[in-house]
Amino acid sequence: MSKILVTGGAGFIGSTLVDQLVSLGHEVVVIDDLSSGKKAYLNPAAKFYRVSISSSKIAKIFRREKFSVVYHLAAQMEVARSMIDPLFDNDINVRGGFNILDNCHKFGVQKIIFASTGGAIYGDAEKIPTPETYPAYPVSFYGIHKLTFEKYLNCYYQIYGLDYIILRFANVYGPRQFKGGEAGVVSIFIDNAVSGAVSVQYGDGRQTRDFVYVDDVVRALVRAQEVNYHGEVNIASGRETSVLETRKYIEEALGSPLKIREEAGRPGEQRRSCLAIGRAKEILDWEPQVDFAAGIKKTITWSQTKK
Ligand SMILES: NC(=O)c1ccc[n+]([C@@H]2O[C@H](COP(=O)([O-])OP(=O)(O)OC[C@H]3O[C@@H](n4cnc5c(N)ncnc54)[C@H](O)[C@@H]3O)[C@@H](O)[C@H]2O)c1
Repeated sequence: MSKILVTGGAGFIGSTLVDQLVSLGHEVVVIDDLSSGKKAYLNPAAKFYRVSISSSKIAKIFRREKFSVVYHLAAQMEVARSMIDPLFDNDINVRGGFNILDNCHKFGVQKIIFASTGGAIYGDAEKIPTPETYPAYPVSFYGIHKLTFEKYLNCYYQIYGLDYIILRFANVYGPRQFKGGEAGVVSIFIDNAVSGAVSVQYGDGRQTRDFVYVDDVVRALVRAQEVNYHGEVNIASGRETSVLETRKYIEEALGSPLKIREEAGRPGEQRRSCLAIGRAKEILDWEPQVDFAAGIKKTITWSQTKK
């Protein structure tokens, strides 16, 4: 079994991944500054360093721990915040990522697996579902910085032979999701419904997203360790779901209507997002297994029982 680092391992997807890696018998180390992650989500069997990925202390951790595989998930992951403070986003998602990558190279890591984004990298694509080959012209600083780090990974592979794979996630949802995150709508609607609060729907509700359940994403991340492929792979449901349909799914699962306040659409908001998953099938032998109705039910159950 390998010694694995998960950056962002106290976050929504990272902590779910850590639980799975630990249950598979791996020795796992987490680096997280707890800016959005939670101590409560940390698996007790994993060693934890509370430090920023941008810190100079990262090299010491790599020297001491001698990782063979690194999952890089730590990120500033709010698109809106990246537009208000692009330099901050750059500091975490480019400079911090580079710090992790360069230490992977210096301390003999065999493979790095990167959590990238489909929605923010393709923007308002004309081709739906959008394949990995679609030209990437992000219209947010978050998307640009994620794409920049993808290019660094390829560069380190070309120059130093450092093995890598990029998973471009659609809108991930499920238990432990941080409400301010990229997927937003599912966790916000459910959290508000459970606490009796009103949710805001921006625009006509016909904007679409591609929702993929966190356990499916974790299965793809685990599988990514085993394959020999250097490039980008979309991890998504491959299905387009509108905000109005999302409301219906949640209302059906709850058995009662959501309290919704409708407001004007936000300028620059993506109209449609849906990713093609043919490459994931081919390269990772991966397909989503949790359908939206089942995933919504699991997320509601978690939301009703969380402390
Ligand atoms: N949730 C989604 O829908 C989605 C979609 C596409 C891509 N992603 C990517 O997946 C990854 C995980 O996202 P998530 O949804 O679990 O978000 P999250 O916010 O729950 O997890 C991110 C983790 O990184 C940590 N972190 C942030 N800045 C850090 C820093 N400077 N140093 C150390 N740790 C830091 C946070 O504390 C948190 O635990 C991110 O890279 C994100 O960009 C997520």
